[in-house]
Amino acid sequence: MRPQIEFINSKQMLWEDKPIFPIQDNLKYKTLSRDYNTHETSLLIKYPPGWVLSNEITLNVDEEFFVLEGAITVNQQKYTENCYGFFPAGYTRKGFSQSEGAIVLTFFSEKYKDIRIRDTSNLNNLVKYVSLYEEGWDTDYIGIDSPEIASSGSRKKLLRTDPANGDQSWLMGIIPSYQESKVESHPVVQECYIIKGEIYGNCGLMIEGSYFWRPRDILHGPYGSKTGCTIFSRAIGGKLIVDYYDLTEPFQFVDNFKPQIPLEYSNFSKKNLPSKRY
Ligand SMILES: [Fe+2]
Repeated sequence: MRPQIEFINSKQMLWEDKPIFPIQDNLKYKTLSRDYNTHETSLLIKYPPGWVLSNEITLNVDEEFFVLEGAITVNQQKYTENCYGFFPAGYTRKGFSQSEGAIVLTFFSEKYKDIRIRDTSNLNNLVKYVSLYEEGWDTDYIGIDSPEIASSGSRKKLLRTDPANGDQSWLMGIIPSYQESKVESHPVVQECYIIKGEIYGNCGLMIEGSYFWRPRDILHGPYGSKTGCTIFSRAIGGKLIVDYYDLTEPFQFVDNFKPQIPLEYSNFSKKNLPSKRY
């Protein structure tokens, strides 16, 4: 179980040298959230220029990642900005290298360790490579139950739907001047990272680098964005389902800063300043 963390700004966190997990040293980390029972973890990893892992490595966990800056190369596939992959437990990396340095949003499904045993039983979950820049947005909103966003003309890119449990990951491309007319809840966890742009919500103004983990059934919204924004989003516990409720007052672009966070995250949840002021 993870507590609600809604929201923090990863840019207010310091990079930590100490690896959370015992394998990959010489990297830097920001732990966005973590389940202390299962060790399921969401984090930013900073790969320094020239970092190489030449040994073959097979992990006991699912590793999901999205490149925010720079590039990494795994199994001779280069992942640059806005590229995504999902490597299921048992998937072997025959080489992991990069020469430019990178900041990568990364999710591990439990405690990370190199098991050195190949396992192909989960390979139907493999998403080897997706690039938003190369492929563009989906031309429809099929697969993600989010009618209010869909009807606004915003776009999505579905990255994966887990064939066993329905968990989903997707990118949202929210149009500028977007305003919601409903509040909502989901019967699943939602986890989001703001890649670019800004978005107002009931916990305040989220900007580039803002992150939240929201347990199921928590009422939230309405949201609105002056600039438009790109968001990395995950639904955990099944596919995203939206239950809507009418607003009692119309949406306003007001920064009602009310973070819902555990005490240990309070240093990372100071009020965001809009990225541009006139
Ligand atoms: Fe939502």
